[in-house]
Amino acid sequence: MEGNLSVASDVTSILIFFVNGQKVVLKDANPEQTLLQFLRNNLRLCGTKLGCGEGGCGACTVMISQCSPHDQKVRHQAINACLVPICAVDGCAVVTVEGIGSTKTRLHAVQERIAKCHGSQCGFCTPGIVMSMYTLLRNNPQPSQAEMEGVLAGNLCRCTGYRPILEGFKTFTKEFCCKGPGADGQCCMTMKDESGVDVSTALHDVSKFAPYDPTQEPIFPPELMISKRSKTPSRLIVKGERVCWNRPQSLEQLLSLKHQYPRAQIVAGNTKIGLEMKFKNHVYPVLISPSEIKELHTIQSSETELTVGAAVTLTEFGHVMEELIKTLPEYKSRVLVALTDMLQWFGSQQIRNVVTVGGNVMAASPVSDLNPLLAAARSRLTFASKEGGERTIAFTSDFFTGPPNQKVAAREDEVLLSITITFTEANEFLYWFKQARRRDGDAAIASAAMRVKLSDDASEGKRTVEDCSLVFGAMAAKTKSAPKTEQLLIGQEWSNDILPAVSKSLVDDLPLESGAPGGMIEYRHCLVISFFFKFFISVTNCIATIAVEDASAVPKPERLLSKSAQIYQEVPSDQSADDTVGRPIAHLRAEHHATGEAVYIDDIPSVEGQLYMGRVTSTEARAKIKSVDTSAALAMQGVSHYISAADVPGANYMGPVVDDEPLFADGKVFVIGQTVGVVLAETRELAQRAAHAVRVEYEDRETPIITMEQAIDAESFYGVPREVKKGDTDAAFSDSATIIKEGEMRVGGQEHFYLETQASLAVPGEEDEMTLYTSTQHPASSQRMAAKALGVPQNRVTCHVKRVGGAFGGKQSHSGILSSMAVVAAKVSGRPVRFMLDRDEDMASTGQRHPILAKYKIGFTKNGKLTALDIKFYVNGGWTMSLSTAFVWKSASSIDHCYHWPNLTIHGRACRTNLPSNTAFRGFGEVEIAMLTESIMTDVAGWCSLPVEEVREKNMYQTGDKTFYLQKLENVTLLRCWKEVIDRANLDKLKADAVQFNKANRWKKRGVAVVPTKYGVGFVPVPESSQGAAFIVVYVDGSVLLTHGGVEMGQGLHTKMIQICSRVLAIPTSKIFLSETSTNTVPNTTPTAASASTDLNGYAVKDAAEKIRDRLEPYRTKNPDGSWDDWVQSAFQDKVSLSATGMYGAPTPMLESGRIGFQYFTYGAACSHVEIDTLTGDWQVLKTDIVMDVGNSLNPAIDIGQIEGAFVQGMGYFTMEETLVSPSGYALSRGPGTYKIPCCGDIPKEFNVALLRSAPCDKGICSSKSVGEPPLFLASSVFYAIKDAITAARSDAGVTGVFRLDSPATVERIRMACADHVARTQVPPVDKQATPWAIQP
Ligand SMILES: Cc1cc2nc3c(=O)[nH]c(=O)nc-3n(C[C@H](O)[C@H](O)[C@H](O)COP(=O)(O)OP(=O)(O)OC[C@H]3O[C@@H](n4cnc5c(N)ncnc54)[C@H](O)[C@@H]3O)c2cc1C
Ligand code: FES
Ligand code: FES
Repeated sequence: MEGNLSVASDVTSILIFFVNGQKVVLKDANPEQTLLQFLRNNLRLCGTKLGCGEGGCGACTVMISQCSPHDQKVRHQAINACLVPICAVDGCAVVTVEGIGSTKTRLHAVQERIAKCHGSQCGFCTPGIVMSMYTLLRNNPQPSQAEMEGVLAGNLCRCTGYRPILEGFKTFTKEFCCKGPGADGQCCMTMKDESGVDVSTALHDVSKFAPYDPTQEPIFPPELMISKRSKTPSRLIVKGERVCWNRPQSLEQLLSLKHQYPRAQIVAGNTKIGLEMKFKNHVYPVLISPSEIKELHTIQSSETELTVGAAVTLTEFGHVMEELIKTLPEYKSRVLVALTDMLQWFGSQQIRNVVTVGGNVMAASPVSDLNPLLAAARSRLTFASKEGGERTIAFTSDFFTGPPNQKVAAREDEVLLSITITFTEANEFLYWFKQARRRDGDAAIASAAMRVKLSDDASEGKRTVEDCSLVFGAMAAKTKSAPKTEQLLIGQEWSNDILPAVSKSLVDDLPLESGAPGGMIEYRHCLVISFFFKFFISVTNCIATIAVEDASAVPKPERLLSKSAQIYQEVPSDQSADDTVGRPIAHLRAEHHATGEAVYIDDIPSVEGQLYMGRVTSTEARAKIKSVDTSAALAMQGVSHYISAADVPGANYMGPVVDDEPLFADGKVFVIGQTVGVVLAETRELAQRAAHAVRVEYEDRETPIITMEQAIDAESFYGVPREVKKGDTDAAFSDSATIIKEGEMRVGGQEHFYLETQASLAVPGEEDEMTLYTSTQHPASSQRMAAKALGVPQNRVTCHVKRVGGAFGGKQSHSGILSSMAVVAAKVSGRPVRFMLDRDEDMASTGQRHPILAKYKIGFTKNGKLTALDIKFYVNGGWTMSLSTAFVWKSASSIDHCYHWPNLTIHGRACRTNLPSNTAFRGFGEVEIAMLTESIMTDVAGWCSLPVEEVREKNMYQTGDKTFYLQKLENVTLLRCWKEVIDRANLDKLKADAVQFNKANRWKKRGVAVVPTKYGVGFVPVPESSQGAAFIVVYVDGSVLLTHGGVEMGQGLHTKMIQICSRVLAIPTSKIFLSETSTNTVPNTTPTAASASTDLNGYAVKDAAEKIRDRLEPYRTKNPDGSWDDWVQSAFQDKVSLSATGMYGAPTPMLESGRIGFQYFTYGAACSHVEIDTLTGDWQVLKTDIVMDVGNSLNPAIDIGQIEGAFVQGMGYFTMEETLVSPSGYALSRGPGTYKIPCCGDIPKEFNVALLRSAPCDKGICSSKSVGEPPLFLASSVFYAIKDAITAARSDAGVTGVFRLDSPATVERIRMACADHVARTQVPPVDKQATPWAIQP
């Protein structure tokens, strides 16, 4: 090993740090271990979660406090524990979620408020969010709302839609004011609506919150103060098996080390090295930490420049610049303003807290945000080496020498000491631009730093360019300047006339091959031209008056603060206080989520003898396996087994509908990421490393089928087409009054991105028994598959699910296949086997929402009345059938959406491709096709020149109408929701304002859209799934144990079931406990899916509870003054059974058409108001109003949480979440770095949700309606508002008429659809014959 370092007497190898106030002395640290692994594996502090392992989700956030050796100040910082090497923690105090409060002692105010404000659903993200907020309060006990919203941008939540989290944490901010009781003594948030119904806008009671007292926070351990530490040697050398960690004490030592080991890596923030070690399996034998080197932490400023040590973090850098900006003349600070502007969008708070300025320079990433700015700003780099001493060079883009390995023009033994930034001069201007898929924490699609120095003689108003730099990120394999354009500009007059030549020259300077990495070739060219235009206008704006219409090119994206309202109907005033049905009680495990006490699969303590499972996955999409060489893997110490198809004792093929998916590849592979076999080893890391060491050779490769178009060409399908006909479309089309149009639309897929990835623990027992703990939404299916794989009866397999960290459909069918692998491995090895997929593994192999491609012909009258639709649609099913034909069936049934179509011809087909098998996702089959229907409605309005609301309303279903499959619609509240949302949103004013705004702003446009939704509830066409079961046990102490068939995955199902049980038994919810879902208490359950679980299990719970209630009734009658406990005791003494099962089989309405109908429909409507930047495609939602009919809400807090969560998930689906694959079938979207789900900064700036009042549903449990899936589609209002804004932009560009916009409306699609002269004429076309970097599946 290269790191054979000598150990002198002033050296220690022992790490000393504190965790939650407890001292940790670590003698045999493994330098490859991260803090997250140490906390979870060594200390069993499992509150800190693993969500991605790449710094992108924030689930692993903890607070690190450190006394700086450089200024002796203690700093508290939120960091991602997954990226921090354990050796970097020496001398620090770590605080995890367990260290700040507990349900057993006292909750911290942050934990209490997130819990009481309904800020947790599945709870997996909650500890990380708590720690981000906690750290903010440690640094600033009363932050501003902007600071609070800024720090939370690094924490992803897939469930809540963020609104309740932000509302809860607003109570800590300066701006927060609880106005207290109103005049009548009631909460100021309770009011009467216009019909006299009591409505409330309060989902939590602020007056019940414990006050936050910052003086009670623990102090920094005195032992770690530098003054104490200086007495002990602190040069650190920790030798691991493969890697040696070295923390020198002086620059001299550092340079010597670099001289001795030139290839050693300097671990600054570890955000590049850490990812290389984790995801690329790089091994760096010598790692050097610069944390103690004073010279690398120095910050100095003079009259003309600022020098920053290379190891200064971006957070410190930002603070220093903010202070300097306050003191410098405006012109000097322009460079610093540009840098601070850039920093607010750089990664997340957690990332900026560790990333160093020097690390960013030396990482030399082509998408670096910082490097183009530093290079454009006339900066200098100072290096030092043992032999060469110090040298300073000008930092231009030439410093980056490009691939291979993103090399820089520095010697390997050199260390970057500092970066010197020159202040801008009087006539010098510097601006930075970036466009990414998501504003916060996303790598640039393109970025630019542009500096120009103009002459100061403005005779006749003319100024010429004296000097300039134009440097770009993400436009090449390295940070790149535009030398020809720079030359072109020098000496030119600064006027509009330069724009055409500059645009052309920029494209020449920044050529992109048609297949260039990152794709989006035309868009990226468009962006650089648009950036220059923005730069030009911004500079001109400083020196002259710009044309009014161009002013809108100047403003940059800003963080608008969020606000919201939630409106729901109060319960009747005579409802018992113990009866919580209809009240906004918090998720009953919210406090456990907030304290990190909630246990998920990976948190289950080690089981004696357990092994970890690592999957060996296929690297080919369609080939035969020639050979598998496991020798290198099995030779590793601690690796025990390799298991493949030959080892499966029972059946190797599984599937939710047909058994066509092999657990382990059976001689052939059909998709990249398919499991070839699994390796078992002592640790998770070893299992993964060993899996990588298995060599699989392939032969007989065939061209994979990836896209739907390829599948159609190859006639590669599943099953038979789904054909539906109603009326006579041909006759309708031949009617002379009918206008006929044809169109095509693609609606992309979506990754589930549940925060807890797929995980299981299989424990073998005697007599073929197997106990399976798994993260699934279908325990009975996992049990069935496991038994089948083992070749044993189902009664030998028990499946337990306590909770699931998010599922959204993604843990319905594939989780059973993955857990069956663990079960087989446990059987073969005779030892417990566990796994939790890495995020990239999960994303690349477990399937997603089905993409759809549709071609259609529509007929309508000139008044916008629909007459006929003839549609052919295809869905991308992936390599096994899974639920794809069911998806086609559901889509074909939902194509009408909210509208009456007199004549319909539908043809739907599932494509068989070589992609991961697509599966269920919230809104299965309905939201995807409804997108297409609403696109048609928008276009019809365009063709008829009518307001789209008028066209929608004109064709909307009403009570008594029949759907095309002849289901009569009863109690249709659609129009009520529609009219109420229009009213609440003040649509007319919004539209008028948008028209005004659009007239005044050429480069920014606003759009508005109102969209309705109708969602069919129930397991159609699988009627046997429409059943629920429950089991209630009353113990002699009066406590009640409730179990039912549904799984708690964040939707608050268990809370609602306890509410129902409590109502029937007339006991407080505190007497009822729900431990888990398990197949040995409630058997043969149906999946928790299709928005049906509350009704199915709720009725079953009611049934069981009524049995118990009835049995206790004689005792209640006999002893009316007695208590529940007394009646239970008496019944027990009379030998009355105190347990009962409950069962519910939902009616399966048979329709005249011969098919089964939905149970009922849930309705709603939403209005969204957006603003887009037509030059970049950037957008934000200014306001969303939703009105949703959930019947009599069982729990308004949970229901509103479902609506908001679904809306934000849908917003991601229809805008930023784009799943991309390479032409060979390799998934390019494989983690939070490459796939963007909305973060808290993306939610509507004003987000109002109202539940429709006085709308009981006679079919749903307690008159409620299902809510899990129906609201998701309402997010399409954002898409159509964007389309509306684009229409305004096109009109300015002289392009009119209906246009195609596929979903998602990515920034690329938005920008290109604006169709201005740049997009139309200045961007070179891509070579359509060339192989692109990415394709749409
Ligand atoms: C979640 C996440 C989000 C991100 N978001 C963004 C973003 O929005 N914008 C963006 O531009 N980037 C982003 N990045 C990339 C990030 O900026 C780089 O990984 C980072 O700049 C590297 O800096 P570091 O301090 O972590 O370096 P390290 O990973 O510690 O080191 C990087 C390289 O620099 C070398 N090095 C470090 N210091 C010195 C020195 N003093 N002298 C010589 N060599 C040195 C190391 O040897 C190593 O080769 C993100 C990364 C992550 C993980
Ligand atoms: S697990 Fe660390 S950021 Fe996602
Ligand atoms: S509650 Fe945030 S991810 Fe589930």
